[in-house]
Amino acid sequence: MKRLRLGALASGGGSNLQAIIDRSESGNLNADVVVVVSNNSKSGALERARKHNIKACHISTYTEGSEKSVDMVITEKMKEHEVDIVILAGYMKKIGLKLLEAFEGKILNIHPALLPKFGGDGMYGRLVHEAVLEEGEKESGPTVHIVDSEYDRGPILEQRKIPVLPDDTPETLAARVLIEEHKIYPDVIQRISEQCE
Ligand code: GRF
Repeated sequence: MKRLRLGALASGGGSNLQAIIDRSESGNLNADVVVVVSNNSKSGALERARKHNIKACHISTYTEGSEKSVDMVITEKMKEHEVDIVILAGYMKKIGLKLLEAFEGKILNIHPALLPKFGGDGMYGRLVHEAVLEEGEKESGPTVHIVDSEYDRGPILEQRKIPVLPDDTPETLAARVLIEEHKIYPDVIQRISEQCE
């Protein structure tokens, strides 16, 4: 079975990226992360990539000058590394049109709530879990979806529900959702790899 080649875009700590790398290295995921791109030169994601001998690239408007160039360079990087699937793992920038076109239907994102609720522009990090608690939701959990030109609106591939507990804070809820994120993202990638056989 052909192993999927994954290209990751990440801005932050990269714990989801790490979960995917770990599953891949343990032999329980038919995919390899071959390149990690970050807009943040100090991101944990780039550090994690280097530790695992995965190509790590800092690409941002700082290095490239404009959003358009960033889009072009990222697209080229993904092509150069013969990436099959692009995975967004806490990537805080909007995806450019070139990348969307070149990898149409092949860009995945993970969101820490049950879309279509609690998504969209500005809905990230603590704000998502705050909103879930404010709405008095009984359940939350991660969503893996295909990325299109609108924030958090592409077709949903899978969701995992966990109960919201009466004494949850945004932090406790985020931590329990994150545990599920680390399982669902590699699971979805594995499922895609089996479909591609
Ligand atoms: C996760 O909560 C993910 O759902 C969201 O960004 C966060 C990234 O966390 N898109 P990490 O960098 O993978 O730890």
